[in-house]
Amino acid sequence: METVLYTIENPDGPLTENDLKAVHACGDIIKRGGLVAFPTETVYGLGGDALNESSSARIYEAKGRPSDNPLIVHICDLEDLRLITEDIPEEAYVLAGRYWPGPLTMILKASDAVPRKTTGGLDTVAVRMPANAVALEFIRASGGYIAAPSANLSGKPSPTKAVFVMEDMRGRIDAVIDGGTNEIGLESTIVDLSGDRPMILRPGFITADDLSDALGTKVITDPAILDPNCKERPKAPGMRYRHYAPKGEVIPVKGSPEEVLGYIKGELSAARNAGKRTGVICCMENASEYDADVIRSAGALDDAKAAAHIFYSALRDMDDENIDIIYVENFTDLGFGEALWNRLLKSAGSRVLELQTKS
Ligand code: TXA
Ligand code: MG
Repeated sequence: METVLYTIENPDGPLTENDLKAVHACGDIIKRGGLVAFPTETVYGLGGDALNESSSARIYEAKGRPSDNPLIVHICDLEDLRLITEDIPEEAYVLAGRYWPGPLTMILKASDAVPRKTTGGLDTVAVRMPANAVALEFIRASGGYIAAPSANLSGKPSPTKAVFVMEDMRGRIDAVIDGGTNEIGLESTIVDLSGDRPMILRPGFITADDLSDALGTKVITDPAILDPNCKERPKAPGMRYRHYAPKGEVIPVKGSPEEVLGYIKGELSAARNAGKRTGVICCMENASEYDADVIRSAGALDDAKAAAHIFYSALRDMDDENIDIIYVENFTDLGFGEALWNRLLKSAGSRVLELQTKS
């Protein structure tokens, strides 16, 4: 299959006439049961008709994803929630009012309109209204319900640029809409509203504090996803698989900034002497301190937004350069940093190097 690439002229909107033409052509592909990758504010999604069982089956196949790992249904109008969900709690409207369109996915009770192929066999469904001009127009043009996981091959870092989607999906899907680099760079926050109390199943740009503030009650995060030693299984099926992993070994290093800098410098020279290709993901200030084959720097250590923005593309760069070992400095794990820390843990197979902090 030839994968057609459509390049959007004005991805931040308003969309140009050419843009609208491209997006509507892609909407028609979806209506015919095809697959189209598209930009959102988080990462690129691999879209198919959420109400068409065979489209969902094709998504799992294109990604090489286990079919018990459910897809997120993307909508462009709050009204459309009614067709695909049941018993919508008041909290859903409160959160939608504050954070939709935006990087928040809600788990709700699924109606019979949603094929169980889309929900991975579950009676709940994940729903999100993305805040991206191209995504919203594309969903509308497709009939209103787009099932979309991240547009990477299963196990690879989520794509934050169309070239990365092409790397993974060329020949496997009908089209890719290139809307530039995703603004946030990490997947949406997932909050489960189908249980007794709201719980975050995957941290993202909308934080636990944001949700607690909106709902007036403390929203907790699934303990299984932040603690590398937790024995419980994560509640979101997708959080149980090894994921976001480059080919090289990822080593998050925790400790005081000075210790981390000194430690990584020492390890880099040892790794190089052992004939390994080395990489570092670090804060801007330290980029010139290291001697490694690939160095990717973001903002300050407490700037989770800057680090999240480059994280997945940094991991892909490491693969392109055949890096064997990748050291990552200890960016903040507070607020949005919790999401970064969670993805970092997954890319590292939950191993963390903790330096003894001298007091
Ligand atoms: O930002 C995002 O959410 C991106 C863009 C494309 O919207 N999408 C995304 O989809 O990250 P995906 O498939 O890569 O991740 C969806 C996660 C998986 O961990 C899956 O197990 C979980 O959502 N999930 C989906 N439906 C669920 C459900 N009914 N109950 C629990 N977890 C669910
Ligand atoms: Mg994914």
